Amino acid sequence: MGILAPSILSADFTNLAQQIRMVEIGGADWIHCDVMDGHFVPNLSFGPSIIKAAHKITNLPIDVHLMIENPDKYLEDFIKAGASYVTVHVEEVVHLNRTVNRIKELGAKAGVVINPTTPVKSILDVAEYIDLLLIMTVNPGLGGQKFIPNSIQRIKEAITLRNELNTNFLIEIDGGVNVETAKTAFKVGADVFVAGSAIFKTDNISAATMELKKVITQ
Ligand code: DX5
Ligand code: ZN
Repeated sequence: MGILAPSILSADFTNLAQQIRMVEIGGADWIHCDVMDGHFVPNLSFGPSIIKAAHKITNLPIDVHLMIENPDKYLEDFIKAGASYVTVHVEEVVHLNRTVNRIKELGAKAGVVINPTTPVKSILDVAEYIDLLLIMTVNPGLGGQKFIPNSIQRIKEAITLRNELNTNFLIEIDGGVNVETAKTAFKVGADVFVAGSAIFKTDNISAATMELKKVITQ
């Protein structure tokens, strides 16, 4: 069974509580929060105060994806605000092993994320310490983009690496996830599915959540 993580980046922030309630009704497993600083990615989103609000609204795990420069500086703030998972970009972090350990020391699960052109093998040296590998399936920064097809090959590569190292991190995909792409990625073995616009930019958020959940369930 796949894990569904709606991204609130595409939610209506005038009514976040109701929007989160609707994905809960539809069977969402985690809430994905996209943090952008306008430097690492060309867009701005939100910081720990929204994570705190989401954590107050729901008991679901909060999955925080940090698209920011110098994430080390803010780890504690996000974890105090209620992050269950904190994921950092390997392209940004200089001492990846140290950052992963720090996230765990602070009491959260640790994830690393790779952009579409970052080799999967770049996570090799932290693979046995992480809880989650996030494979970007679009270039980060915006919701509503198209799934990059060779991501499927990258998911397969990550699964091979996980088997070879005999470790057990979850493989998450993020960007352009809809019923079709989720189905294909689930078939090859992705574990966690982030979806923003395919859930929140629809007329019926609960129904869209349910529909996605169905294609990642067997
Ligand atoms: C992209 C973000 C995604 C985004 C996904 O930079 O990391 O989480 O919200 O949005 P959709 O599902 O619309 O592609
Ligand atoms: Zn994300």
